[in-house]
Order: sequence, then structure tokens, then C-alpha cells
Amino acid sequence: MSSSPSLPTTPESKEDADYNKISDEYNHLIETIPKTNGLRGELLYNYNGFWLDPMILKTNFLLHTYFKSQPTDIFLASVMKSGTTWLKALMFSTLNRHLYSFSDHYLRHHGPQSTFPLLDFESYPITDFTHFPAPRLFATHFPRTLLPPCMTSCKFVYLCREPKDVLISCWHFMSNYRSKDLPPLSLDEAVDIFCKGHSDYGPFWEHVLSYWRASLEYPDKILFLKYEEVKKEPEVVVRKLATFMGKPFTAEEVEKRVVENIVNLCSFQTLSNLEVNKEGVEKFGRLEVGVENRHYLRKGEIGDWKNYLSEEMKQRIDGITHERLKGSGLIFDASAIA
Ligand code: A3P
Repeated sequence: MSSSPSLPTTPESKEDADYNKISDEYNHLIETIPKTNGLRGELLYNYNGFWLDPMILKTNFLLHTYFKSQPTDIFLASVMKSGTTWLKALMFSTLNRHLYSFSDHYLRHHGPQSTFPLLDFESYPITDFTHFPAPRLFATHFPRTLLPPCMTSCKFVYLCREPKDVLISCWHFMSNYRSKDLPPLSLDEAVDIFCKGHSDYGPFWEHVLSYWRASLEYPDKILFLKYEEVKKEPEVVVRKLATFMGKPFTAEEVEKRVVENIVNLCSFQTLSNLEVNKEGVEKFGRLEVGVENRHYLRKGEIGDWKNYLSEEMKQRIDGITHERLKGSGLIFDASAIA
């Protein structure tokens, strides 16, 4: 979760020239583009319309140069706090259902974040993923417009969530990782930052639209999901995921209740009560700082914003949502918005 724009020590590989060029471009860029304070109080930089942590911006440069997708790759993309952890668990256990028994499953001993890599925290030299069996699974929070071109022909599962719930989830999560030298993040401040679009990978609305529009154009390549629909009909979603990932459930699996078993294993109730998710810490890439697994499993409900937001805050966010999504065909679940 570090956000210092300083560069790692100079590498000594044959790709030094490329890397040095990237570093020069990056150093020049962050001197020239707008910056602001995000929810953690740390600087975010506006790169092509989106606010990014400088380390993650650097990773974006690295991925553009060094990441080589394979046609069979499947990516999970999401706005932070939309339920990425849940979808990782569901996608991993659906795709790898032949590998584990439900009673002694990988997810009973490892945090869901460890199931497949989040590319955004890669650093130089990026990990060699070539030995991963196909289809490889990767996660990212980058908006569609910032992806390396090689990735955009691959399959994507995109997950979004009603923005007021995203904001409340972000507020809680980011408060845990805010510098102790800063005062706690007030809800007023969090709402203001979110509404201005100054949250990590924000603006929220442009992020969601970037994948929504692509999903309309390439429906076979992008499975567009909402947290609320996963919550309401998890078995329907798991079947969709299986088919989308090229591994539909057989009649025999359905008979043996494999879909229900996956849903139960990945439920908030099951995951949040596992020791690994109460005590465990997830390290990303070569980041020194880890994130506690329990911070990814806070409450897991639709409409928790009602416990926090004033009528004025609600109207401000709903107004922006209405304005930005107008005419796009995208709406968020009425019961979560009401
Ligand atoms: P809340 O903070 O509202 O509880 P992400 O994984 O993208 O960081 O999103 C985290 C949010 O998803 C948190 O929301 C978390 O509780 C919720 N979540 C994680 N796992 C879940 C699960 N299995 N079922 C439902 N919600 C889950």
C-alpha cells in the first residue's frame, strides 16, 4: 500500500534500457500531471482521466511493456471494494473444482486474495507467469482504457457495486491504511473525495462505464456483473461464470450439488469465519506491507450505506450517479439505491 513515487534501485538485467526509458517517462510524467490527496491522505496522480497511486501508475507502464497476455487468459476487473475478494474465490473454486475437495479446500487455508495475482502490484522485473496453466486468471483494478492493448482481446469478468456501498466500504478499508500521522478520515471528507472522483482508480462512474460500454460491444468477451446480483442469485452467477470460463457444469455435477458447494464455500459466512481470514495477512507482489485478510471481509451486505450517509450525502451521490450514467443503459439495483 506504499505510495511513494520514488523508484526501486536500478536493476541490472539486459532489459535495463527499456526499464530506464520507462522510469524516465514516469519521472517526467508525475512532475507534470495533476495530483491530489486520496482517501488515505496520500497523493494520487491523474493519468488519462483516472486517479492512481504513483506506484500503481508505474506498474501500469511496466505492464504495457512487459506483460504478455495469452488468448486463453481470463481477467477479473473491478472497482476497489466491489467484492473482488468474493469473485476471486468464486472464479478460482469454479475453475479448479476438479482439484480440491470441499472439506479440505485451498480456500480453507489461504486467503481468497492469494488465489490469483493482482497485476496492479507488480514491480520490476514483473513476475514470470508463463508457467501458469491455461486458462490463467489475473485480477486488476485498472479501468478498461488504461489496459495494455494485448489484454483487451481476452475475456474479462467485470464486477461493480452500488456506489454508496462502495464508498462506505472504501471509507472503512482506507481508514485502516491511512498514515497514523494524519487525523482520521471523516465521512464528510470521504464523500467529498469520492464525489470528486479522487478515490483510487476513480472516478468510480467512468471506471464502470469503461467496462459497461465494452461489454455492450463485446458481450462474449466481457461478463458484466453487479455485487447485488451475486448476492441475490449466487448459484445463477456461478453457473454463468463456469460457462463463461469455458467449463460449464455437467448434469452429474449439478446432481452432486457442486454449484451449491462452491457458493457455500465462498459465502461471507464461511470465509469470514475461517482462521486464515481472521488472522492472516496477504502480501501483494513484492510489497513490503501486507493487508489483513479480515479487512476484505467486513460486513458483506447490500445497503450498509443507510447506516452512515445523511440524506444530503445520499442525494449528492445519487445525483452524480444519475447524471453520469444517464443514457448508458446501466442502472444500479433499486433496492440498494432507494
Ligand atoms: P463491505 O465493506 O461492504 O463489507 P473488495 O474485495 O473488492 O475489496 O470488496 C470488499 C467488499 O466485499 C467488502 O464489503 C466485503 O465485506 C465484501 N465481501 C468480501 N467477500 C464477500 C463475500 N464472500 N460475500 C459478500 N460480500 C463479500
